[in-house]
Amino acid sequence: MPGRLITIEGLDGSGKTTLAAGLLDVLRAAGRAAELLREPGGVEVSERLRALVKDPALTVGARAEALIYAAARAQLVEEALRPLLAGGTWVLLDRFVDSSLAYQGGGRGLGVAEIAELNRFATRDLTPDRTLYLRVDPAVGRERTGRRLEGFDRLELEGRAFFDAIAATYDELAAAEPQRIRVLDAGQAPEAVLSGAVAALADLLSA
Ligand code: TMP
Repeated sequence: MPGRLITIEGLDGSGKTTLAAGLLDVLRAAGRAAELLREPGGVEVSERLRALVKDPALTVGARAEALIYAAARAQLVEEALRPLLAGGTWVLLDRFVDSSLAYQGGGRGLGVAEIAELNRFATRDLTPDRTLYLRVDPAVGRERTGRRLEGFDRLELEGRAFFDAIAATYDELAAAEPQRIRVLDAGQAPEAVLSGAVAALADLLSA
């Protein structure tokens, strides 16, 4: 049986990393072969593009930014995701196409339809089996991000309007695809978020 692609989405500071680590344990305890990967990154080319696109010392235009994320994604899909899924592994992926739709399509104002088109090319139409959207108030997400030791990266240095637009776009995406995208309240305790996520995957896990 092919594996499943589960993506985790949300604003910076929504708790994606914590949820991903918890879910990985749950999947493995349930006897599934499971891997955790992140975007941009996961394979060497994409990790190098990650360092480039997050560097606060660089000025990157919106279109170039969208293309860098898409290039990192194309390499990850080809080199890691398709082989893992074909081999029956469940892949937990911290961010995927919806991040580009929200950040570049909404936040940068490039348009969700345009960014979707670019990403269909990049991924050859790979679509997640389920997406867990950690919904957080942009101000709360920002406050949590600011507490991290490494400080803000290039995107996190953007202002309030950018993150409000991203949050609004995520909400629109979730409303348009309720079967794939499940909304979890990221304001809850981590254990409650994890059990909500497990419930949102129950049908896939019992299949
Ligand atoms: P993170 O791994 O800390 O979430 O950092 C990734 C950053 O890149 C984060 O600010 C969100 C942003 N991003 C995009 O703007 N578009 C994308 O397609 C992806 C994957 C991430």
